[in-house]
Amino acid sequence: MNIRASTEQDKQDIFQLHRDTFAEEEAEAVAKLALELLEDETALPLLSLVAEQDGDIVGHILFSSVSVEGADKHQGYILAPLAVLSNQQGRGIGSALIRRGLDILKTRRGEFVLVLGDPKYYSRTGFAAGHGISPPYELAYPQAWMALELKKDALKNIKGKVQCAASLSPAQYW
Ligand SMILES: CC(C)(COP(=O)(O)OP(=O)(O)OC[C@H]1O[C@@H](n2cnc3c(N)ncnc32)[C@H](O)[C@@H]1OP(=O)(O)O)[C@@H](O)C(=O)NCCC(=O)NCCS
Repeated sequence: MNIRASTEQDKQDIFQLHRDTFAEEEAEAVAKLALELLEDETALPLLSLVAEQDGDIVGHILFSSVSVEGADKHQGYILAPLAVLSNQQGRGIGSALIRRGLDILKTRRGEFVLVLGDPKYYSRTGFAAGHGISPPYELAYPQAWMALELKKDALKNIKGKVQCAASLSPAQYW
């Protein structure tokens, strides 16, 4: 399995991957979101990685830029979306995409990463709830709103509401 930055030519495969992998009721919306984020200037700086197996794209992860209202300028990111093709799941590809992404963001001097997802899954790579950054909307499961520091104590004094890229801001994604 090889992980690399996605290119313009991968866009259709990325769309298809999310559409095939997410549950039917959200698949189309997530697939569109992935493509919109890739073209969204308000998402920059952005990191988009694909996992390849025998020349086929089997996984994709995207990190887009966020800011925090009322806080100093910080280089923060949000992880969304992430998907690994059903027949390739459980082989460590999702975790490898997350870890590689975090490593690259560290080298880019990123400070923190947010995610809204399953705590059982994301806690495996160090994400935890209980930080000071609020989501843009009230959440049904606040424990699913997690963060990870890329730099020691990066989240210690940050309080405020997150401001995401325009394409990630509609309430339907939260
Ligand atoms: C979530 C997802 C990306 C994980 O990818 P993956 O390549 O299978 O992940 P890994 O192989 O690194 O980790 C698999 C482990 O995580 C566990 N896991 C996967 N999804 C989980 C979840 N939602 N909650 C808890 N554990 C989960 C698996 O049971 C497995 O456990 P094991 O190692 O003890 O066997 C993949 O299942 C997926 O694409 N799901 C559909 C889309 C989705 O839900 N994306 C995340 C949105 S927040």
